[in-house]
Amino acid sequence: MIADKPSSQRLLPENGHARIEQAIGAFGLLREYFGGAVIVDAQSCITWIDGRYRDLLKLAADFDPVGLPVEEVIPHSLMRRVVETGKPILLDIMRFDDRQFVVCRIPLKDETGKVDGAIGFVFYDNVDYLEPILEKFETLQKQLSRAQAALTRERQTKYSLSSFVGASDVVKELKSQVRRFALREGAALILGETGTGKELLAHAIHQQSDRADGPFVAVNVAAVPEQLLEAEFFGVAPGAYTGADRKARKGKFELAHGGTLFLDEVGDMPPAIQAKLLRVLQEGEVEPLGSNTVRRVDVRIIAATSQDLEAKLADKSFRPDLYYRIAVLAIRIPPLRERHEDIPVLCETLLEQTMRTPGQRGWVLMPEAIRLLQGHDWPGNVRELRNVLERAAALAPSEVLDAAAIRRALPQSSVRPASPLPLAGSDLATYLADAEREAIIAALDATDGEKLAAARRLGVSRSQFYEKLRRHNIVS
Ligand SMILES: Nc1ncnc2c1ncn2[C@@H]1O[C@H](COP(=O)(O)OP(=O)(O)OP(=O)(O)O)[C@@H](O)[C@H]1O
Ligand SMILES: [Mg+2]
Repeated sequence: MIADKPSSQRLLPENGHARIEQAIGAFGLLREYFGGAVIVDAQSCITWIDGRYRDLLKLAADFDPVGLPVEEVIPHSLMRRVVETGKPILLDIMRFDDRQFVVCRIPLKDETGKVDGAIGFVFYDNVDYLEPILEKFETLQKQLSRAQAALTRERQTKYSLSSFVGASDVVKELKSQVRRFALREGAALILGETGTGKELLAHAIHQQSDRADGPFVAVNVAAVPEQLLEAEFFGVAPGAYTGADRKARKGKFELAHGGTLFLDEVGDMPPAIQAKLLRVLQEGEVEPLGSNTVRRVDVRIIAATSQDLEAKLADKSFRPDLYYRIAVLAIRIPPLRERHEDIPVLCETLLEQTMRTPGQRGWVLMPEAIRLLQGHDWPGNVRELRNVLERAAALAPSEVLDAAAIRRALPQSSVRPASPLPLAGSDLATYLADAEREAIIAALDATDGEKLAAARRLGVSRSQFYEKLRRHNIVS
């Protein structure tokens, strides 16, 4: 006795009737354990489907799925695989809406043993002994989606444009330039000394752009050995290497698809890789190592370097054609010593990020301490400022960071070597020395580093001025 009336008999294979009925008969016996069943023919087209499976799939009452390829009716069905391999899939899990079901698929064979179809069963999830499997699957799925979300977050940017702090006109101009650039698609090149915030700015450009939801992938060209760079950029086809690493590995270009690829320290790129990179940028395609197929990639390049790229162009260690391609939008971050106005607000931000002991109130940076910081020449730029502030905070006896606290934290070579007095207090001589140093720096700033003009402004002779520069250890 057939439990559910087949939706149609007309397409059943001539010799298939008995066998299928037999199968359905068996199914009828166990019917209460199943949520539905389906039968396909040798072409993986549906020949029969029971009413409960139809309900599960929410098929319209007048829709006849018989004769259709199984995937058109049951998305992600693996019935075709069973027909093609002749191997059953005895235990699998399928999702319909938000419910998981255990499914079982068995090949059907004719009298000669040739596979000429398959039957699939769906088990209800209220079958007790299946519960642990489904629960475990559910847990693994959750873990997987959490890991995927974490990976996506990791690939997204950490900083927005507001993380790039600064009050000077150059920084304001820089930020408005970034806002304009971000809306365009061209490659961007960020130039600046070490520690000026090139990486921070690269994140910010990505975050402002239409690609903000896409990945942000960074490669530090200087940190990857030359012989590994190609694989790092373009990936590796399976089996490209003999030995341990036989698996395929995606390159950074593919990982950045739909987003931004940040090429840090691009000035250190070896010539052979420069040529390959240029080709990828021209053609929008990558070819993984050891593969003979190309993949299209949609990636925006942001490059950065602290090197003098123009000098590298001149001595031919950097290709001009690559330079023009990545320097469509060029941004130069000035060194910190050229923007003293940024120091107070940078200090505020960087100190806020500095660890405090629990219960401690914010750090208080005294005006004379700020002046002292503004007098330093910061070869390591904002990174060095951060380090000095962290050191000062770690060494300070209280929340108040005064000139003495800063002096203790500044690199010794930059602290006035001639100070006749101990570094502890804000005594008159220290105060005067600080003031003199600041005046000299301000004069040099105002005269674009012209020493003679600066000396004149301060009303001292040229030789006196040089002597003071030496004494205050001011690099000019
Ligand atoms: N304008 C800024 N506002 C806030 N923090 C900044 C700013 N500029 C730099 N920093 C901080 O200074 C540090 C160095 O910045 P970053 O790593 O972006 O510099 P970089 O130019 O990439 O340096 P390098 O050339 O050495 O790689 C980071 O901690 C960054 O957050
Ligand atoms: Mg960097």
